[in-house]
Amino acid sequence: MTKLFINIKELIQVRDISVKKVAGTEMSMLPTIKNAFLLIKDTIISDFGSMDNLPKTSVDETIDVTDKMILPTWCDSHTHIVYAGNREQEFVDRINGLSYEEIAKNGGGILNSAKKLQETSEKKLYKQSAKRLEEVIALGTGAIEIKSGYGLTLEAELKMLRVIKKLKENYSIPIKATFLGAHAIPQEYKSNKEGYINLIIDKMLPQIAKENLADFIDIFCEVGYFSVEDTDRILSAAKKYGFIPKVHVNQFNSIDGIEISVKHNALSVDHLEVLSDKDLEILKNSSTIPVALPSCSYFLSIPYTPARKIIDNGLPLALATDYNPGSTPSGNMNFVVSTACIKMKMTPEEAINAATINGAFAMNLENNVGSICKGKLANFIITKEIPSYGFIPYSFGTNLIERVFINGKTID
Ligand code: NIG
Ligand code: FE
Repeated sequence: MTKLFINIKELIQVRDISVKKVAGTEMSMLPTIKNAFLLIKDTIISDFGSMDNLPKTSVDETIDVTDKMILPTWCDSHTHIVYAGNREQEFVDRINGLSYEEIAKNGGGILNSAKKLQETSEKKLYKQSAKRLEEVIALGTGAIEIKSGYGLTLEAELKMLRVIKKLKENYSIPIKATFLGAHAIPQEYKSNKEGYINLIIDKMLPQIAKENLADFIDIFCEVGYFSVEDTDRILSAAKKYGFIPKVHVNQFNSIDGIEISVKHNALSVDHLEVLSDKDLEILKNSSTIPVALPSCSYFLSIPYTPARKIIDNGLPLALATDYNPGSTPSGNMNFVVSTACIKMKMTPEEAINAATINGAFAMNLENNVGSICKGKLANFIITKEIPSYGFIPYSFGTNLIERVFINGKTID
């Protein structure tokens, strides 16, 4: 089945397969073709170019998209969309003056979600999670990473990861699974953190590896959660199963979590709302990609990741949602891109690069998605009629997506 899109006002993020990510000043360049065509064959992008060079071959379907733009779907490299219920009450508690950290100390936060999840059947959890996945695909997300970490028992962590596996089987967007058993210390291990870490290392990791339930390993490396030493221990243990680290670090404190993550060749370090000069230097000498989560900063009213400092030091940066019930109950990548421009002073070019090609890199999916590239999946967004691509972040809160194509097929 061949489909030809013609009269595309601007085809955005056109790249050669050799471009795996963009860093520093490269991030300010967004290659596009004005008045373009795009040809797809079955699930794959097979050709694109200027309308002046439109191929004369016959196709099964021709779609005229005059005045509309096409860009690759968003690549959301950090989410927790498998969760049970919500934490609306904590939202109100914060409005009334409690901080996110105070709520967690009082037994709310991640432990609150863990309790709810443990009491929810796998079937119900799947249903709630699938609904969120469908919601974000409609918002233009065409590849996603999903973490466990609201189970905190062997059984409940496996339940979460099996739900992610089912989502992988039933939905056609690329999904990567991350094991985040070290998300919080469960109540019953409050005074025995070592016991919980032993459970992760001796029971959870081997079982997850045996059932092939995870691609990545994550840890919440933070004061009051898991220390640098804990992170080192867990990442060392995870290595023998081939789980690649993607680590929650520097959300509230800089405690050398970046250093230990880089030492373990982490694919990404995520959050970085607090970033020291030492952290920056370590990142400059690494291949680990920083990931910013501006919707989390927005929702919790905490500092934004210093994107300018990161990019102006020649580093790459990816943007993701962090969709979860506590710190970011939103999976809208369009809002993330807008907020990155408005609050982090990223240009539209930088933000779009960060949310597409660099997001793909942060999930090891740079050969499959993240750019309009021959051979990559035909996962792309057709916009409504817009004057320029800068209009996407500019018109924050407005849905400018007309249609989303996944594997060459439009979604309802
Ligand atoms: O990335 N910071 C750690 N984990 C999540 C939030 C967890 C929660 O509050 O449920 C995050 O923000
Ligand atoms: Fe997170």
